[in-house]
Amino acid sequence: MTTPQHPEDFLHAIRARSAAEDGIFWVDDTRLGVFEAEAARRVSATNWRRFVLHDRLIDMLRRRHSTEVRWSEIRSAWLTQLHTLATAEHQGALLDRMERIIDERLGEDVDLVMLTQDVALRSMLPVALSGITEGEAELVRRDLEMKLLRLVSPTPAGIWHRLRFVGVQLRSGLVVRRVLRQRAHGKRPRQLDLADPFVDLLPRLGMDRALDVVTTVLTAIGGPPGTAAASLLYEFVRHPEWQELLTEELAAVDPVEFRTAPTHAAPVTHRFVKEVLRLWSPPLLLVRRNQFSFDFGKTRLEPGDWYLLSPHLIHRDERLWKEPDVFDPDRFLPGAPHGPADRTCYVPFGWAPKKCVGANIGTVQLMGLCRLLCTRYQLTVDRPEDLRMALRFAPVPEDFRGRLVLR
Ligand code: HEM
Repeated sequence: MTTPQHPEDFLHAIRARSAAEDGIFWVDDTRLGVFEAEAARRVSATNWRRFVLHDRLIDMLRRRHSTEVRWSEIRSAWLTQLHTLATAEHQGALLDRMERIIDERLGEDVDLVMLTQDVALRSMLPVALSGITEGEAELVRRDLEMKLLRLVSPTPAGIWHRLRFVGVQLRSGLVVRRVLRQRAHGKRPRQLDLADPFVDLLPRLGMDRALDVVTTVLTAIGGPPGTAAASLLYEFVRHPEWQELLTEELAAVDPVEFRTAPTHAAPVTHRFVKEVLRLWSPPLLLVRRNQFSFDFGKTRLEPGDWYLLSPHLIHRDERLWKEPDVFDPDRFLPGAPHGPADRTCYVPFGWAPKKCVGANIGTVQLMGLCRLLCTRYQLTVDRPEDLRMALRFAPVPEDFRGRLVLR
């Protein structure tokens, strides 16, 4: 197959092919598409069953062997921190930060994709890396914004932009190194964030691997949460009937219960968020390198081969979902005939054992955004009837401009 260059055409082409070829086929000479739900689950489980963090380049340069650190150890450190952060106090602080950031832009005519990106990233940054100066936070944010712009921009960046990008990336990396080192030497207080566990692990991990681990989290909060928030606004604007249902629920919800456990406190809103994540799962394609031989029956992956996964294509698979292109949060009502047939069909946060560690806090953030939209702000969008979603590295609403004012 000749691969169309535009990401949108590419995605449409592989969706059509996936339907015709049962979800598993060579997308081109080097990449196997694994878009069948059960196969995606199995290949992920096998591929990452013993994933170890190496320091290969540094080991080679220094002619040494660094200690192996298992990825499961890294994940369990993140999950422990996130569990401690899952309280009314910390979740409430996240929602308050979102409100403050939106308040700064009240009444302005804004690009809503950039605004939601800013709100999602700046409110989540202290969860990943806190206790940093405004200047340090600015550098980290600029690095993440540049990474994201490169991914969502329809045109490739020029040479100067690329050089600036590398410069910002290096300086942002220096911030992370400095924070970890100073915390380790008692020159900065320890924090309840996703970087802190690696201060204790520094002697085993070394600074390069610790930086990689913290960068993984920073990159994870720099992309999907913001694009998911933009998609949420997009569906919110397009569905006044759901705006009404959500407002009814959220105006009556107990604020403390909402901060503690929003998915229980506001089930209608939870269904709305789940449906947004089903239709518009970011990122649209995940590229993975295979580590062990894997037999799919009709074809095989060998170690070193590449494969593609896509929550988006699984969520749009007509064999799994009735009318998959229709936005209908009620498919998540228990027993709904158009709901997910089983757990492998709904995978907005990916697959074990690499599944997104931020799934819960990411959901809290999106539900908090719904509450702000329904109870605090009034959103007006330019030409809502012309709204259209572009498919880049993630779904991105095009020409999505508008303003938020207080109700
Ligand atoms: C709605 C918001 C979010 C979405 C849709 C999302 C989605 C994803 C997806 C699809 C993956 C890849 C999983 C795989 O490879 O199977 C992932 C990985 C990851 N996410 Fe998220 N994510 C979100 C929010 C967050 C947040 C808020 C955090 C941190 C606080 C986070 C941290 C991570 C990390 C650390 C990984 C890498 C896990 C690993 O490599 O083991 N994510 N996310």
